[in-house]
Amino acid sequence: MAIRTVLKMGDPILLKVASKVEKFGTLEINTLIQDMHDTMEALEGAGLAAPQIGVSQQVVIFGVKFNQRYPDAEEVPYTVLLNPVLTPLTQEVEQDWEGCLSVPGLRGMVPRFTRLRYRGVDQYGKPIDRTVGGFHARVVQHECDHLQGILYPMRITDFRLFGYTEVMFPGQMLVDE
Ligand code: NI
Repeated sequence: MAIRTVLKMGDPILLKVASKVEKFGTLEINTLIQDMHDTMEALEGAGLAAPQIGVSQQVVIFGVKFNQRYPDAEEVPYTVLLNPVLTPLTQEVEQDWEGCLSVPGLRGMVPRFTRLRYRGVDQYGKPIDRTVGGFHARVVQHECDHLQGILYPMRITDFRLFGYTEVMFPGQMLVDE
C-alpha cells in the first residue's frame, strides 16, 4: 500500500499511448491497483489512470460514493478497468466542468458523449461490459483519454471556460479525475 506521486501536465509520460496489460491477477498488477486506489482516496479523486502515477499501462480506476458534502454528485460504482474499449452510442455531446489530478487547481468545460458502452476486464481478467450515461460516461471518457495520452485541456473548445478553481468556484470543494 502506497500513496504515489501524481504526475503533472508537462510530463511526457502523460502524453504516451499506454500499453495493453497482458497478464492479470499478478502481484505487479495487484500492487499497481492498490497504489492507484490509495492515491485516489488520499487525494479524494473520482478517478485515476495508471500513467498518472508513471505506469504507462492500460489501467484505470474510478468511483464516486454518495457524500453529504456533494449531495448532487451522481454515484458511480467503484470500478477497476483494464484494456478498455469505448463505443459511443450517440453523437450527442454535453459540455460540463472537469478537473484532473494531473492539472491541479484548474477546471475546464469539456464536451463528452452522453451515452456509451465500455468493455474491458477487471484486474483478474474477468470481462466488464456496461452501457452508461451521465457522469459515469464522462468519468470513463476522461480516464480512458489518459491511456491515449490525452489530457482534458486538449478537448476544451472554448478557452474562456478554462481557469482556476479558486477563482471560478470560490469556496467549493470539487472532485478531480
Ligand atoms: Ni485526469
